[in-house]
Amino acid sequence: MLRSISATSTDAMSSSDNKPERTLADLGVTQPDQVLSLFAEVRARFDGQVSRPLDHPGWEILRQSWLGRKSGVLMLIAEHWLKPAAPDLKRSVGQELNKLKAHLETTLEERRLDVESLADHAASIRDRVDLSLPGVTRRSGSHHLIRRVFQEIEDIFFSIGFSVVEGPEIETPYYNFEALNIPEFHPVRDDMDTFYLELPPSPDKKTAPTPLLLRTHTSPMQIRTMEKQKPPVRVIVPGKVYRRDNPDATHSFAFHQIEGLAVDTDITFCDFTGTIEYFVQQFFGPSVKTRFRPSYFPFTEPSVEFDVSCPFCGGTGASNGNTCSKCKGAAWIELFGAGMVDPAVYGFVNYDAKKVSGFAFGIGIDRLAMLKYGIDDIQIFFQNDVRFLRQFP
Ligand code: DAH
Repeated sequence: MLRSISATSTDAMSSSDNKPERTLADLGVTQPDQVLSLFAEVRARFDGQVSRPLDHPGWEILRQSWLGRKSGVLMLIAEHWLKPAAPDLKRSVGQELNKLKAHLETTLEERRLDVESLADHAASIRDRVDLSLPGVTRRSGSHHLIRRVFQEIEDIFFSIGFSVVEGPEIETPYYNFEALNIPEFHPVRDDMDTFYLELPPSPDKKTAPTPLLLRTHTSPMQIRTMEKQKPPVRVIVPGKVYRRDNPDATHSFAFHQIEGLAVDTDITFCDFTGTIEYFVQQFFGPSVKTRFRPSYFPFTEPSVEFDVSCPFCGGTGASNGNTCSKCKGAAWIELFGAGMVDPAVYGFVNYDAKKVSGFAFGIGIDRLAMLKYGIDDIQIFFQNDVRFLRQFP
């Protein structure tokens, strides 16, 4: 580190060097060669001061003390030596003064550049980034468990020829209900406490605007897909659905489903149960069994509810001598609803119900994720607490 010395005006004009304040006559200078040596003396004094280490304020003080307009040494010399000089000395004093001035100016300018580059250098040392310091590690995120379960299920259905389609979360009652064979005032609508949107009046202000709602299930995509596509159809539809449920450990106003639909000219009930069994065994493991019970959905006929033998107690209902906490001793766990597509639905999409047949299913993803990964509160999926999310890297 350079120790810088600040020049002071007393340095430049110490009492023993007060010659510039006196006249030449006073100093006894009468000959040109005396003038030369006097100037040489002043110059040497300057050279001594300017060659010391300097910081910027020190340089400025030095400059003032030599070139300052009021009491700089150069000014004093002009005042006391040049002005009153005898005519035969004036010329040489003038010449020497000019030389001295040029010397002071160039030397001070050179030093200014030095001082500045030293300051820059010091600043760059001070601000230097220490590349040997360990960096801040930012953990990369991971898929949300729901996204991961979607992926697992999608992969299973990809492997047997299904493809993925997605649809709007804001739906019309036609797609969410009517075309799925759920007419207005059908009691099954009461099971779905639906969010209807408040809409602005229609532009003509006379007709009522078409009502819109947050879809209560992914089933509307059955209709949208069949409207666009002739059989064969084999799709799954992952997505968010909404119902006006009060939140608790198993209910949330937003949750996730995967809809499935397969329609072709020769699909049988056997294809249906075989597909579901394949999916369930891929998802929970080869040792689980499936069974179905009769159920009711307006858009399937017959309709069933699929159960899986409890994967946690091996379908025995007991674990370590106690009642299995997952299936509550029932040995079976209810999984999801499904069925053969009701011929009435084909009527809404211009399929010939005499020629085609198919099956559909609607899997609740949150429930399946909770079962498979041992999670007992659905709310945790929506809290985005990293302590939970990090458990599924
Ligand atoms: N959409 C039904 C629901 O949300 C689930 C469902 C049941 C979908 C049977 C289907 C099905 O495709 O065949 O409760």
